Amino acid sequence: MSNNTDHPIFSFAIVADTHLTRKESLSFDGNDAAGNKLAAMYNNLVARVNAMNPEFVVHLGDITDPVPVSTEFSASAQVFHKASEVFTMPYYLVPGNHDVGEKIHPALPKINDEVSITKDAIDQYEKHFGRQRYSFEHGGCLFLVINTMLMNSGLEEEQEQWDWLDETLHDNAGKRVFVFAHYPLYLSARDEPDFYDNIDEPARSRLIELLAQYSIEGYYAGHVHNFFYNYLNGMHQFVLPSTGIIRTDYMEFFHTPPTREMGSFDPAKLGFFWVDVYADRHVPYLIRASDEQPYRTHSWNSNGSSVTVDLRIPWCEEVDIPTPWGLEIFERKHVRNDYPLAALWEMGVTDMRIPISDLLNPRVSDRVKQLSALGHRFTVVMFGLPNEARRAALAEHSQGIKKIEVVALFDQWSEFAQSLKALRQGSDFEVYLHAVRPEVEGWTTHHGMHADLTDEVDWVLSQTDLTDAVDGFVFGIRRDMSPIDGYAAVRRCLSGSSYKPLLHVPCVGMYWATSPNDEVAEKNELARVAEATLLARANPNLAIVIDNFVELDRGYCSCWGLVDRLYNPKDGSRVVTTLNTLLPQTLRNLTSQATAGDRVLTAECDDGMALLISPNSCSASSELSDHFPGGIADRQGTLVDLVGGTEMATTLREVIAKRAREETPLPPVLLLLND
Ligand SMILES: [Fe+2]
Ligand SMILES: [Fe+2]
Repeated sequence: MSNNTDHPIFSFAIVADTHLTRKESLSFDGNDAAGNKLAAMYNNLVARVNAMNPEFVVHLGDITDPVPVSTEFSASAQVFHKASEVFTMPYYLVPGNHDVGEKIHPALPKINDEVSITKDAIDQYEKHFGRQRYSFEHGGCLFLVINTMLMNSGLEEEQEQWDWLDETLHDNAGKRVFVFAHYPLYLSARDEPDFYDNIDEPARSRLIELLAQYSIEGYYAGHVHNFFYNYLNGMHQFVLPSTGIIRTDYMEFFHTPPTREMGSFDPAKLGFFWVDVYADRHVPYLIRASDEQPYRTHSWNSNGSSVTVDLRIPWCEEVDIPTPWGLEIFERKHVRNDYPLAALWEMGVTDMRIPISDLLNPRVSDRVKQLSALGHRFTVVMFGLPNEARRAALAEHSQGIKKIEVVALFDQWSEFAQSLKALRQGSDFEVYLHAVRPEVEGWTTHHGMHADLTDEVDWVLSQTDLTDAVDGFVFGIRRDMSPIDGYAAVRRCLSGSSYKPLLHVPCVGMYWATSPNDEVAEKNELARVAEATLLARANPNLAIVIDNFVELDRGYCSCWGLVDRLYNPKDGSRVVTTLNTLLPQTLRNLTSQATAGDRVLTAECDDGMALLISPNSCSASSELSDHFPGGIADRQGTLVDLVGGTEMATTLREVIAKRAREETPLPPVLLLLND
């Protein structure tokens, strides 16, 4: 991750798995009255790519659906070219299994010559789409297009490709290199078994070892029609979603009903990549077909402190995926669902809170290490003092762990002091204590100390044994208290001490019991999310945790969550994304004022002010000028809808007046006033 505010030296777009057929031809001719989904989505995507104007576009294969021996192949290829000639920039093509034939796989015995890769199929491909492998340069970077369907085929062309790869990489040693392929090297683990969606051994290892000798920055693949990410030897490996169709077998990632049309055209799971190339790194953005927000951020490009997201729901879940529909099930693929990660990156979140059991699970542990190497930071929570195995796990992941929370029963604390002191002195992370007093409230509803329970707080602060043993204490901000008021109360509690607070902002709870209806409850949750995000940006040294990341879709607790059960963005995600994109890197003098129906958080920045306006159940009715001196209320600024992303010019006075007239609370908005 970088705090650089530099600009990309160039940008490009990547698309994958269009699977066009001649059926789409009518749509591209403009004569398809009924409409064709694949064609409509591709047309829309081409228009969006053109509007964003990258330097070039790469297509990762499965260009058409019919295989080369099909009588439909030629017509389908023409359909693709017809649709793609609208691109206003060069486009580069990569051969996929639908374009040059399938790999031979032990689970698919005797694929007949008609669908497996052959010399004939390659010739057909090259006739319609150009060379099966090649390189090009742009902005000092080398881009390699390879035919992964050749891997392990034994065809003459396979050896020719190995020789060409060796020679090209050798001749360009020292250059930044990007590889474009149809098949991923692997989906979840370097040593996973061969299956339909990875490159079989021995070619997989051979390719990995060859690429490891050079500065390969990115390996981009398609084929799986889903998002995956892996990091190996400094190389970022991405698998892209398709532009137009979901694969049925990966439904197993989501044990919940699809959004619409049986999930085949779930627009949040379709789309393309936008890649910004900087002088020293590149940042790829997943652009969802459903994504209408103009704002784009990424955890790798974070330009300020981030709110911490509580990963209460498993975030590295591994699922047994069947073979694709139509093929016999000889084996299942044990694959990690990377959509939680995609959603976190999309919001620009860098900090995450996880239970210590995640570090003890080998697969999740590997993931934590990968993400730590990328600059992610983890807060790890545990009950009681860590035993030897847990201390070893903390040490093993020390690169990414910045804080630990030790949850302990109140009367155990004094026994913990010496052990915590030793742990803290031998580690780079901060240690926070979380008091639990079961006789007051169990910790299912009581998370962290509450600033208004002063006898608890006073008792904790009076324990001199804890002075060197902990950096601070965990506080929970009740759902009936705004995060900014909670933070102010916590600061009052800790004034005069050197302890730091770690703030939990729970969005989980029995909202149906405390709000008049779901809509009001959801807007109140959005307000908490927005305030917590702003607080985190304004206080780089303070950990503020939003709980929860994923909506709860059943049960006695409710939480709308930042993302839904399909890990698709909800309004909470959009609020975080927009704030992380638009908020200046540093904010000063954060203050809070109540107005009629709203709360206004005001922060100063280098070139003006940022004002967050969100619903507030405690209304004030006095004149705005009492709250905002110096004409702030009447200054023209840019009002940004944090959910929809639209902008308009207006004043704070107008915004407050308009929102006060609404019966139902409105989502939070941001008003930017430039000097
Ligand atoms: Fe495909
Ligand atoms: Fe494919």
